[in-house]
Amino acid sequence: MYDGGKIITGIIIFLLFATFPFYYNIGKAHVKPDPKLDTPVIKQLKEKKCVESKSYMRAYHMQLLDDWRNQALRKANRTYRNEEGKLFEISLQNTCMKCHSNKQKFCDECHKYAEVKPYCWDCHFVKEAKEGGAAR
Ligand code: HEC
Ligand code: HEC
Ligand code: HEC
Repeated sequence: MYDGGKIITGIIIFLLFATFPFYYNIGKAHVKPDPKLDTPVIKQLKEKKCVESKSYMRAYHMQLLDDWRNQALRKANRTYRNEEGKLFEISLQNTCMKCHSNKQKFCDECHKYAEVKPYCWDCHFVKEAKEGGAAR
């Protein structure tokens, strides 16, 4: 029995350590992300609309960006036609980040919460900063 108790204590200690990242994340999950839309460009829009609907953007912006990159680099197409037939320049910097110039309070706000770190800024952010730093 004595040995059994030791083993059980061992198992409990092991479980506490093994699941620590899980407990640790519970607290953070309550702080809901609050992406801000109050950039100068968005404030001036007559229609407060994104490239596609908000729900579509929320769920699929990563696929959309991936598609944009493929269109631009593989098919040399720099124009995107949205659901409503409206045209946008295919550009992370000149399109997305022109409206969403508050990267930290918008993109990063959600990504920190979702624990994703898009590597795009290794290249794209540097370029943007050099061009005058529209986004922070
Ligand atoms: C013309 C300005 C404009 C451009 C360009 C633009 N957005 Fe948006 N975006 C907005 C506005 C305004 C909203 C809020 C829409 C609403 O509330 O219906 C929004 C919403 C979003 C959302 C959803 C936010 C949420 O709270 O759910 C995401 C994600 C997003 N945009 C990403 C992008 C990406 C990625 C690009 C480039 C592919 C992009 N946006 C281009 C203006 C823009
Ligand atoms: C409403 C919250 C929200 C906003 C705002 C938002 N994102 Fe995201 N983004 C996410 C989530 C959640 C994921 C992870 C989705 C998944 O893994 O399926 C993600 C993933 C991505 C990815 C893919 C990363 C990867 O490693 O797979 C890219 C690229 C991206 N976002 C770009 C942007 C850009 C650029 C902006 C700002 C213009 C932005 N996002 C704004 C929630 C958001
Ligand atoms: C290793 C550097 C690098 C990384 C990392 C990178 N890109 Fe790019 N990207 C480029 C270069 C270079 C171009 C070509 C620029 C041009 O021809 O205008 C480009 C073009 C693009 C384009 C089309 C044109 C434009 O100006 O936006 C999109 C959209 C794009 N990338 C999205 C992304 C996204 C989303 C990520 C992250 C998931 C990402 N890129 C990561 C280097 C990079």
